[in-house]
Amino acid sequence: MKVFLIAGARPNFMKIAPIAREFEKHDQIQYKIVHTGQHYDQNMSDIFFEELGIRNPDYYFGASGGSHSQQTAKIMVEFEKICETDRPNLVIVVGDVNSTLACSIVAKKMHIKVAHVEAGLRSFDLEMPEEINRMVTDSISDLFFVTEEQGMINLKNEGKPEAAIHFVGHVMIDNLYYQFAKLEQIPPDSFASSVYKIQHQKYGVVTLHRPSNVDDKQALERIFEALVRISETLPLIFPIHPRTRKNMEIFGITPPPAIKLTEPLSYMEFLNLWKDAKFVLTDSGGLQEETTALGVPCLTIRENTERPITIAQGTNELVGTSIEKILSAFKKIMSNNWKTGQKPKLWDGSAAERITNIILNNI
Ligand code: UD1
Repeated sequence: MKVFLIAGARPNFMKIAPIAREFEKHDQIQYKIVHTGQHYDQNMSDIFFEELGIRNPDYYFGASGGSHSQQTAKIMVEFEKICETDRPNLVIVVGDVNSTLACSIVAKKMHIKVAHVEAGLRSFDLEMPEEINRMVTDSISDLFFVTEEQGMINLKNEGKPEAAIHFVGHVMIDNLYYQFAKLEQIPPDSFASSVYKIQHQKYGVVTLHRPSNVDDKQALERIFEALVRISETLPLIFPIHPRTRKNMEIFGITPPPAIKLTEPLSYMEFLNLWKDAKFVLTDSGGLQEETTALGVPCLTIRENTERPITIAQGTNELVGTSIEKILSAFKKIMSNNWKTGQKPKLWDGSAAERITNIILNNI
């Protein structure tokens, strides 16, 4: 069985890694890693391959930049070429980025089966490019691998056949546990981020990259006002996504020294930092889930989430971009009144194993 595993943007690399590691155990599966090049900086891409224990991509397209349509089109043209010359039986796409959408459409039009990992998540907010990517990908996928029960409900409501929907848990959490165990074996002083941890016993971690938060001057200024207020009590460290850095420069936002800006960090450096943080403030999808898995308080700078289990059972709360809401949640965390949460069902580190068994039985 020949399988293509697709990755393009930063959050994809950690999701394909556990699947690739699991595939290594099965001689019947011959897999290839396809990297679209949607993300391309050393610390947005290459560094993850080095750390994740997976081999370098078999195919690389360099399809970065441009508008969403240009990026999607570039990926589609390149992916079609390799599907013609090296036709797989199955294409596995993960998450909701433009690479997910582009490769699932190409595969399906070439009558190649598509499996979507992290299927069924819905924010019901069509202003998010990711929501469109999720909906289109799910509308043409053959196999749905679901991370939380609401995903099953969404897919059933959309009329997907029950036999194609599989609740398997979360490959991103598989990877988190794998990296966490590795991290425990490494002396803390091997990490550059440990210097910050020694200097600051208590701190918060910030990540922001959603267009709705960082492309809009007023929204970004409002968020920074809240961050500045928080940093008067608790120092913050903020690894900046290239999109956010560019916009901070354009909007003339210069944070105070209590908000330490860094380049994007590798998975291990970042994990070393946030696992011991007082809280995480983010607009990332994955980090909402990872903080729930490790029980770290998380404030999500969004009005909605496609990952409701992180709120119902985990440590996450939505605070939007309202300064009052952000500050009142922060107060609650500082007075140790935050919910402790619990680990969602099947977030046990074995999702990739379940996925592999289902593929072996269904393709
Ligand atoms: C993409 C995903 C988003 C995901 C995020 C994680 C889509 C629609 N969005 O958003 O779902 O949460 O990745 O990071 O697929 N850039 C660099 N270097 C890089 C990568 C990007 O400088 O290595 C710049 C790009 O040139 C662009 C900006 O950052 O100006 C945004 O990159 P892009 O891939 O368009 O989307 P993201 O905002 O990263």
